[in-house]
Amino acid sequence: MSDLLTLMEVGAPVAALGGGGAYLRAKHPAAFWCTAGLPISTARMLGTYGSTMEACGLTVQPSRLRALFVQATTRREVRPVPPRRGLIRPTSTGMRVRLRLAPGQEPADVAASAERLRHAWGVHAVYVSEVKPGVVELRLVGFDVLRKVRMPRKTEGGFLKVSVALREDATAYVRDYRTTPHQLTLGATLSGKSMFQRHLVAGLAPQPVALVGIDCKRGVELAPFAPRLSALATEPGQAADLLPVLVQLMEDRYDLIKARQGIAPGTPDEEITSDIWGLPESERPVPVVVFVDEVAELFMVATRKDEERRDEMVTQLIRLAQLGRAAGIYLEVCGQRFGAELGKGATMLRAQLTGRVCHRVNDEASAKMALGDIAPEAVGAACAIAPERPGLAVAGDTSGGWSRIRTPYLSLADAAAVCAASAHLVPDVPALDRFRPVVPVGPANPPVSLVKPLPVTG
Ligand SMILES: Nc1ncnc2c1ncn2[C@@H]1O[C@H](COP(=O)(O)OP(=O)(O)OP(=O)(O)O)[C@@H](O)[C@H]1O
Ligand SMILES: [Mg+2]
Repeated sequence: MSDLLTLMEVGAPVAALGGGGAYLRAKHPAAFWCTAGLPISTARMLGTYGSTMEACGLTVQPSRLRALFVQATTRREVRPVPPRRGLIRPTSTGMRVRLRLAPGQEPADVAASAERLRHAWGVHAVYVSEVKPGVVELRLVGFDVLRKVRMPRKTEGGFLKVSVALREDATAYVRDYRTTPHQLTLGATLSGKSMFQRHLVAGLAPQPVALVGIDCKRGVELAPFAPRLSALATEPGQAADLLPVLVQLMEDRYDLIKARQGIAPGTPDEEITSDIWGLPESERPVPVVVFVDEVAELFMVATRKDEERRDEMVTQLIRLAQLGRAAGIYLEVCGQRFGAELGKGATMLRAQLTGRVCHRVNDEASAKMALGDIAPEAVGAACAIAPERPGLAVAGDTSGGWSRIRTPYLSLADAAAVCAASAHLVPDVPALDRFRPVVPVGPANPPVSLVKPLPVTG
């Protein structure tokens, strides 16, 4: 009897602790990591570092001097040496540690063992990046950070930069218009493309930038941001009017830059510029970001007459993508598919859009349209995105790198509220004035129903 009581006294708290831990891990992985995961993984790493590195083939033979020294001082067997490890730096989502590579090793050797290291140390994932020649950083992520996205507190912000999503290695994915002027976001319906754009609009709204929307779904996605938009086109006819104005704006800006270059033969070198950023601040025109939601709508034609209009629009979009950067005009294009089947000009326009984000797609061909020409191995990752995780996407860049990202949830109402609050920041771009959306003034009081409600009987 007393044995049973002792067992219950010891077993009950252990079971409660185990159950509590499992619950925490499943429901609040971040809290679990901070309380239990981090100490356990740190202990595992410290305790097994040498043997894990040896098992992964990441050790090298010690130098002769070292071997002699070890033999002379400890008389123990001389073991291969692992890369020298720096301090372990814990974070709220994982930990970081730097390794100094031994002669003859390269970062790819460590990266090839990332999967083995993650199992050895019981973490969700291990990422390897080169810090400087000979030094790599291991970023250990304790749990699946893309399940419930929480952006890092400190993110790289700044003019024309928006932290729009979280990468799987728990760093922020920043959309930087100065380095990647134009971007294409593809994905099946309900995959999270508009959420991605919503974040961009909300992130750019407080900045001195003109925002232009072309949303051929009658404006359902972009019209709520009307207070902050400098121009909005909600059907192809309006887009056909707006695009030439944007091209003209771009040409005027080129004239401005050219005029500056030819100011006087003795203009100092630093004042000669080939884009708007070299112009003095007082003369510099405001950057324009053009959002195009559902780009395929601009390519569709019903009649022969429309065909001419379509070709013109496509040419104008290509010109904006080709020359817009120097004039501070950036394209943010969204669509479900964007391939040669859309007709003349589609692949040419796609080739101009440097940044690529691919949400969930219905077939491999769609993923190839987004990523095939820049990071072919990312196509498989994009095809594997599950429908129950909207917002999850694969972001590639033209350097061949890619990563999984996911946007945090942002309701349309919240994004619209940000736009309404920054309505006074709409810059003065006279060319776009006639396209400025009319912002409906909401009723001060909810409308009063004149119909007397009747009780439901039945
Ligand atoms: N990161 C996210 N986290 C949670 N829910 C999301 C996320 N991104 C999108 N969603 C949800 O998924 C649904 C579809 O998102 P969204 O409207 O952005 O898709 P879409 O790709 O633009 O679809 P469509 O092509 O039909 O316009 C919305 O209900 C949205 O709330
Ligand atoms: Mg959408």
